[in-house]
Amino acid sequence: MHQAARRVIIVAVMQIRTAFPSDLAGILAIYNDAVLTTTAIWNETPSSYAERLAWFEERTGAGFPVLVAEEGTEIVGYGTFGPFRPHEGYRPTVEHSIYVAPAHQGAGIGKAMLRELIKAAENMGKRVMVGAIDAANDVSLVMHEAMGFREVGRMAGVGEKFGRRLDLVLMQRELSGRHH
Ligand SMILES: CC(C)(COP(=O)(O)OP(=O)(O)OC[C@H]1O[C@@H](n2cnc3c(N)ncnc32)[C@H](O)[C@@H]1OP(=O)(O)O)[C@@H](O)C(=O)NCCC(=O)NCCS
Repeated sequence: MHQAARRVIIVAVMQIRTAFPSDLAGILAIYNDAVLTTTAIWNETPSSYAERLAWFEERTGAGFPVLVAEEGTEIVGYGTFGPFRPHEGYRPTVEHSIYVAPAHQGAGIGKAMLRELIKAAENMGKRVMVGAIDAANDVSLVMHEAMGFREVGRMAGVGEKFGRRLDLVLMQRELSGRHH
């Protein structure tokens, strides 16, 4: 008689939390992978740890959030927002970005991160959130639409990467801006 096979399934719990400087190596790896292999970000030069640290300090020093998605002890995604444009008059508006590690995409992490960023921006009293998205990035466009963003602009050929011209889609979502 055979003993019934027992399967052990380990489910790592995903949590989204505020990032610490100790998360920067994980953030850097995800960022550089997107730089080298995608048109999600229109940079071609990988970033260094020192540059990411300066970015983290500037962003958090200005009161903006940097969030990470963590599974077990692994950083599997991050999200953040900052000023839409530097001028004071753009104060009601933020521009966000989200990156999920390739092996963890399509599992709901991006959407969960976007939900948390929207909440954080509303808690800061912000009124509008803007995403600037590569027009070929169907997953991101669909995700933003599903989360209440609408296309407000499409700019043909404003970018260039991997020898191709790139179009930019601007999407915006109104926020409740409850807490002033
Ligand atoms: C875009 C990105 C942030 C989305 O995060 P994700 O965790 O992969 O996406 P989710 O699993 O949360 O899916 C969000 C929605 O997108 C859609 N979607 C997800 N994967 C998809 C796929 N492979 N094809 C089509 N639609 C897809 C679904 O509608 C999904 O919502 P639903 O599951 O409720 O139907 C992530 O894929 C990523 O980091 N990509 C590379 C970097 C990037 O493009 N960043 C965004 C720059 S604007």
